[in-house]
Amino acid sequence: SQNIYILAIESSCDDTSASILLNGNVLSNIVASQKIHEEYGGVVPELASRAHQQNIVPVVHQAIEKAGITKNMLHAIAFTRGPGLMGSLLVGTSFAKSLAFGLKIPLIEVNHMQAHILAHFIEEKGFSKPPFPFLAMTISGGHTQIVKVSNHFEMEVIGETIDDAVGEAFDKSGKILGLGYPAGPEIDRRAKLGNPKAFAFTKPKVKGLNFSFSGLKTAILYFIQKQVKENPSFIAENLNDICASIQYTIIGILIDKLKLASKQTGIKHIAIGGGVSANSGIREALKNGEQKFGWTTYVPKFEYTTDNAAMIGIVGYLKYLEGNFTEQNVTASSRLKI
Ligand code: KG4
Ligand code: ZN
Repeated sequence: SQNIYILAIESSCDDTSASILLNGNVLSNIVASQKIHEEYGGVVPELASRAHQQNIVPVVHQAIEKAGITKNMLHAIAFTRGPGLMGSLLVGTSFAKSLAFGLKIPLIEVNHMQAHILAHFIEEKGFSKPPFPFLAMTISGGHTQIVKVSNHFEMEVIGETIDDAVGEAFDKSGKILGLGYPAGPEIDRRAKLGNPKAFAFTKPKVKGLNFSFSGLKTAILYFIQKQVKENPSFIAENLNDICASIQYTIIGILIDKLKLASKQTGIKHIAIGGGVSANSGIREALKNGEQKFGWTTYVPKFEYTTDNAAMIGIVGYLKYLEGNFTEQNVTASSRLKI
């Protein structure tokens, strides 16, 4: 059998990433994260696209160097077509098209949300691949979705957020508490030291498998404002308990929906992805689900959960095997659906 080298490029949000895969094995996965957004407490699209333009050539160059190959050995170039920020997607799309044209090799478009899910199919020692059909929950600063995955390319979104993403719920709560951006990791760290039942926040009532997090953020804001009025040092005195309570509420929302999705579909294989899957509370809750509900759960290697090009590359490889290539007149699509 042949050795297939794929170059993959991801630029949908604020990380510029390039990766080389050989037959589904990652040889390199370079990610340039944009620090500039921290000052603003969120991703600034205009600044993101400028940074991508600056980073893209060095990042691709590094990925090729680190893989120990030359660009003439590449069989195809995979890139994120969408969804994402238009200005960001345009940089990766245009670059991928030009390089494929120059090297006279096929171009392969990849849906970013499918890639988060298919990241589980990267060849990686110690990680097993979920069998079909499985449920995938993608949770990050930009996404909150539950997807029924029937095979590599047959997927159906069965639930998603109607407002904020779950990562935003962490980050915006952190902002209310005066924590830095992104606040998810610090809330997680402090939650381990606090009492999750110290403060109760009502879970939003959303029908079916959809999510809503904007109401929770407002509830937290009002609660904190009220407490601070009575005791100006309320946050400082209770920070770990507040973090633990917020995290407990958010995880409860995620697990409730997973339970419902599993019940409705009869599927017990559950795979998660996206930056929030780093959260220690959600990992523990999933492990408990194995005992309590008979689930088998899958969490990919950390570097494949946050935005990265290796996950784009595995989709590129799977499409390459099927001869599923993309025309050179393809355009980026910020609202591309699964
Ligand atoms: O996947 P990601 O790196 O970027 C995208 O949003 O696409 O996810 C970043 C999000 C942020 O909202 C961050 O606060 C959250 O993931 N996050 C966490 C943890 N680590 C990252 N949230 C909770 N607990 C964590 N340990
Ligand atoms: Zn993402």
